[in-house]
Amino acid sequence: MKVLIVGSGGREHAIAWKVAQSPKVDKIYCAPGNAGIAEYAECVNIGAMEFDKLAAFAKENEIDLTVIGMDDPLVGGVVDVFEAEGLRVFGPRKNAAILEGSKAFSKDLMKKYNIPTAAYENFDDAEKALAYLETAEMPIVLKADGLALGKGVLICNTLEEAKEGVKSIMMDKKFGTAGNQMVIEEFMTGREVSVLSFVDGKTIRIMTSAQDHKRALDGDQGLNTGGMGTFSPSPFYTEEVDEFCKKYIYQATVDAMAAEGREFKGIIFFGLMLTEKGPRVLEYNARFGDPETQVVLPRMKNDIVEVFEACVDGTLDQIDLQFEDNAAVCVVLASDGYPVAYEKGFEIKGLENFKDKDGYYVFHAGSKFADGKIVTNGGRVLGVTATGADLKAARANAYEATKWVNFDNKYCRSDIGKAIDEV
Ligand code: AMP
Ligand code: GLY
Repeated sequence: MKVLIVGSGGREHAIAWKVAQSPKVDKIYCAPGNAGIAEYAECVNIGAMEFDKLAAFAKENEIDLTVIGMDDPLVGGVVDVFEAEGLRVFGPRKNAAILEGSKAFSKDLMKKYNIPTAAYENFDDAEKALAYLETAEMPIVLKADGLALGKGVLICNTLEEAKEGVKSIMMDKKFGTAGNQMVIEEFMTGREVSVLSFVDGKTIRIMTSAQDHKRALDGDQGLNTGGMGTFSPSPFYTEEVDEFCKKYIYQATVDAMAAEGREFKGIIFFGLMLTEKGPRVLEYNARFGDPETQVVLPRMKNDIVEVFEACVDGTLDQIDLQFEDNAAVCVVLASDGYPVAYEKGFEIKGLENFKDKDGYYVFHAGSKFADGKIVTNGGRVLGVTATGADLKAARANAYEATKWVNFDNKYCRSDIGKAIDEV
């Protein structure tokens, strides 16, 4: 089989690494890819939003399956373009990717089908949103409706802050058209857990749990980032939580989408908050999480290509999804100054130290080739993942492995997975 992967981050590197292990696969392409992905795939210089070029490439090169890693092309309808050309593709169509693409849609869906989530109101008029705030309890959460690189959520402690937030989202269009509508919702507290799942339109298979660290600095201080590290499984995702989510959240979401005529095939990422009243859905994503994928896939036993095909074919009920009884931790090595201002183009040294080391992985998030060397090419540069018998062992292994690679301005958090010490 020939497989094309669309994307260029650490998530797509982990997907490419996993796809490369499938005995069914002879050749992998990645558009546009990065210097790490190039170890497993031929990188093709086509952007993730160039749907017609991607489909033409898939046709010319007789690609048997295309896997879309990123949210933007999914929400933009890349799957529909591929399907119209008769190409096999893994991911939700545009009418289902809206589960991530519109927070107002996802909140209305949860309300209609009684899926537990924070209380909320949707607004497409700034004046009405401002009036609503006058009677609302603080703190309160404001969310731009559309995709905003994970930055469109504002937690406001005072009425003044909340009013400023509404203005910046809806009037000043800080997040562009993503702010044409917004959700205002109840502030909840509790542990956050990420749960990824495969879905074939009817059947859902849950992967193992994980937790992300979104803030830039130790102790969850500093600005929100694309994710500074992850661990899997989450010790807070207990059997009781799992049972609750199976009963009220996972299948209910798949069934709700089907009932709306928006059959969902692909990955649903459930962002959950474990509140005192039980698990609540914070958000849905319509793709693998980044950097959750970098700790989940190294623990997955199945041939991922078989699972992708089962989702496309609607035969996921025949798949027994299995994970190793171990743990994994991913520490992101970023460029100092991320997520605000940082330099690029520094040589990355020591990547060869990961060769043939079982249970250690270096997934590239932002790297490229320059003059025969691999250099930094983003705020997040590498995700160093290690497995271990348990979370503590995995964390020790991951931090040890962060010392094997170096580049100028290398920065990482020192407390990824620290929460597990509380268990
Ligand atoms: P989202 O993109 O919707 O997952 O929101 C990003 C982050 O904002 C989440 O991971 C939470 O940390 C936080 N958040 C979102 N919604 C709420 C809420 N209703 N209450 C408290 N925190 C929230
Ligand atoms: N790690 C969160 C996300 O992928 O959106």
